[in-house]
Amino acid sequence: MMLHIPGVLSREQVAAMRRQLDASDWVDGRKTVGAQGAQVKQNRQLAEGSPMAQELGATVLAALASSPLFFAAALPLRTCPPLFNCYAGGEQYGNHVDGAMRRVAASGQWLRTDVSSTLFLSDPEEYEGGELTVVDAYGEHEVKLPAGDLIVYPSTSIHRVAAVTRGARICSFFWTQSMVRDDMRRSMLLELDQTIQSLRAQLGDCTELLSLTAHYHNLLRQWSEV
Ligand code: NI
Repeated sequence: MMLHIPGVLSREQVAAMRRQLDASDWVDGRKTVGAQGAQVKQNRQLAEGSPMAQELGATVLAALASSPLFFAAALPLRTCPPLFNCYAGGEQYGNHVDGAMRRVAASGQWLRTDVSSTLFLSDPEEYEGGELTVVDAYGEHEVKLPAGDLIVYPSTSIHRVAAVTRGARICSFFWTQSMVRDDMRRSMLLELDQTIQSLRAQLGDCTELLSLTAHYHNLLRQWSEV
């Protein structure tokens, strides 16, 4: 499932982050990938664990925690500290799959990457190219969102970032281990959750909605691992 979540960060939050990021030092993006990724990855990142990455990452995590839609879509068990990247001057990231397991440096804890997220910090008019393309059974999906918006997609997918030929594309990106490992099951739970909420808004509480709500929670109980 791919899901666009608008307005995860406010315009003010984006502007404050950009003031810091635009003045920051970037390091080679190949530091955080394996051998396959390193061959196709050309971009720069904020050094993992640097004070600025920690500070800005905490703002991103706080914004995620107050997004009911992110919770419903990702069913997050834990999210790794957000990273920040910059593509400019023709930089791109060819087709790759995200590594299945990541070790969180601060805690030493392993995290299985179920859900990948990209939070756009540049507006589409600021740069040419830079589309994120995600490939799934239904074809190729191209994504380029306003600053402050988030795209959530399955970490199992093959995906790429097109070359940025003008301006700079600045984003935050991170991985989440979900309480529900399977993308299809997460997708079904999200659809059920959204349908229940929509019916509740139309009909108010009723016995049938209570039954559907029980089914949502009982499916989650069946499928979740914590
Ligand atoms: Ni990736």
